[in-house]
Amino acid sequence: MSDISVAEMSEAEARDELARLSGILAQANTAYHVDDAPEISDADYDRLKRRNEAIETRFPQLKRSDSPSEHVGASPSDGFAKVTHAVRMLSLGNAFEVEEVAEFVARVRRYLGLEPDSTLLFTAEPKIDGLSLSLRYEKGLLVQAATRGDGAVGENVTANARTVDDIPVRLDGAPDLIEVRGEVYMSHADFAALNERQKVKGQKVFANPRNAAAGSLRQLDAEVTRVRPLKFFAYAWGALSEPLSDTQIGAIQRLETLGFRTNPLTRLCNGKEEMLGHYALIEGQRATLGYDIDGVVYKVNDLGLQARLGFRSTTPRWALAHKFPAELAWTRLESIDIQVGRTGALSPVARLSPVTVGGVVVSNATLHNEDYIAGRGSGGTPIREGRDIREGDWVQVYRAGDVIPKIADVDLSRRPETAAPYVFPTVCPECGSDAIREEGDAVRRCTSGLICPAQAVEKLRHFVSRAAFDIEGLGARQVEQFYLDGWIREPADIFDLRKNYGTGLQQLKNREGWGEKSALNLFAAIDDRRRIALKRVIFGLGLRHVGEQASTLLARHYGTWDAFENAMRAAADTESAAWNDLLAIDGVGKVMAQSLTSSFAQEAERASLKRLLAHLDVQEAERPKTDGSPVAGKTVVFTGTLERMTRAEAKARAEQLGAKVAGSVSARTDILVAGPGAGSKEKKAQELGVEILDEDGWLTLIGQS
Ligand code: IVH
Repeated sequence: MSDISVAEMSEAEARDELARLSGILAQANTAYHVDDAPEISDADYDRLKRRNEAIETRFPQLKRSDSPSEHVGASPSDGFAKVTHAVRMLSLGNAFEVEEVAEFVARVRRYLGLEPDSTLLFTAEPKIDGLSLSLRYEKGLLVQAATRGDGAVGENVTANARTVDDIPVRLDGAPDLIEVRGEVYMSHADFAALNERQKVKGQKVFANPRNAAAGSLRQLDAEVTRVRPLKFFAYAWGALSEPLSDTQIGAIQRLETLGFRTNPLTRLCNGKEEMLGHYALIEGQRATLGYDIDGVVYKVNDLGLQARLGFRSTTPRWALAHKFPAELAWTRLESIDIQVGRTGALSPVARLSPVTVGGVVVSNATLHNEDYIAGRGSGGTPIREGRDIREGDWVQVYRAGDVIPKIADVDLSRRPETAAPYVFPTVCPECGSDAIREEGDAVRRCTSGLICPAQAVEKLRHFVSRAAFDIEGLGARQVEQFYLDGWIREPADIFDLRKNYGTGLQQLKNREGWGEKSALNLFAAIDDRRRIALKRVIFGLGLRHVGEQASTLLARHYGTWDAFENAMRAAADTESAAWNDLLAIDGVGKVMAQSLTSSFAQEAERASLKRLLAHLDVQEAERPKTDGSPVAGKTVVFTGTLERMTRAEAKARAEQLGAKVAGSVSARTDILVAGPGAGSKEKKAQELGVEILDEDGWLTLIGQS
């Protein structure tokens, strides 16, 4: 039924379909807003809702009294006030392997420039699988509780938090202002009992303790939260009027003295071996703890060092989540499909007989690339002892954290006799052009660029995605349809849609979702995006290796589109100052830099960009918040040996303060920081009359002496 197009439906079919959609959408709403356990993706939800509306438009007489289009979506989350966190709530970098833990320790030591045998202490504690909460106390009174939300803005759940026994409403002897952070969770026993009660009452049961905890805390009626058995462990803090301690372990002890529960498995560890030892101990106790944990969190103990290490964009450099191994299951590989991405990469996808892995039904998994299927790793070394993967094989699927499921292994004893080695296509399955693999690249790519419909469509879908142009009413499905109609071939065409096809679109009454009103709304939404932030334009280009975070960094660094574009062209010459300047951005490596410059070097890409930019008014990027910074906007070069900090740290700190750090001295350099052993750079700076400081002078200037 759901396949019948709205235009071809009979009245009876439409009535049935409206009933079906109303049922599915109501269930999806409850699952999402009330139970915190979404059952369908946002995209599917939107698609069903639009289908419902299209049928109602065609058969207004059939509109149901409980029509989903009348449902204003008074979701509980709309009912919570928003809270902007005084200090952002961050996430943690992840590791699964012992080597990654070793690398984390080594990275921290390198960044801080520690002597090889010096002591570096870390705390290690369980990573609780619940939801994080920030509790603000002023003069000892709980004044606000907020969920993490997107890290910057969360939901105000103060009334609910007050009902949780583990959360004190009053603190004695606390700093005037303190934000205590930690995890709200539900124990296994409480979870089972809650589900039992829900069942008896005929209400929906929760999939796991985490969902139960989230659903219980995010209740509009705090009385519901009161009867739900929530618990809270404190493990971190946000804003403070005075420090809690000078060590992590000291701060945790202080939180305990203030009346919070902290995890009894928190330990101080001296180096990697002790950290891994404590990980093994926690893993051994996992099954009997009585609540869900999904790994161990390591944190640098010395808070002074934590401050020096600081943060990457969303994660602290001083902490790491060492996750427990992924969950595994065996199933049959039905077939291998090839998908063509926006950069032309041919990605093999495993279609599986559905199987439950760690509580989630999996029917697709990535197979990475052709070498992976053939049993070869990078550099041609065998993986899975060289066992290849074939259609019809029994394969082992695993999920690690929230990542896309992967295929780990294959069971040769169950291989069907008819199974043949998989032949990876050498032509693009979408456009038939050659798909080639460049030397040193693991990936085979379609060579026809935007001529390949799959690439063009993927690029357009990316262009309208949330972090890029985010045009209301123009989602992935709509651009794809317009592409098939021949109305939109490249991003610039979106902005000519009204001019070229305006009347046509307004008349598309029989096409799902379109009509005069929606067309006019779309044109208005497109016009809204002619004025656009630089980072969205850069991200929207969909260049390889240039994600959302990198786009923000680039936008901040270059400020304007013209500066960015000119720099990318100039940087094509890897001997140029522009190339060095690009590489000097913290977060931009050689691979990304090459991807950027090669895109700007392509004639077709440049022409397409020019057409796009003619429609846009690109806003100058916000500079990082550097109010009062004495070095904001200045170009600084470090040379010679630094004694009180490493190069990486010096650079990160200078950039945080709004300075640009360059690799070589030029007329544009404002300050040269020269340590012992400085050579030609210092000489050049003297010749150019550039201000020269020693390390202490620099630290005094930035107020860190
Ligand atoms: S520390 C700046 N410690 O894990 C880092 N987080 O993946 C602050 N979590 O959002 C977090 N147990 O919800 C920390 N012992 C623990 C934790 C923990 C669970 C959660 C927390 C955070 C997420 C990051």
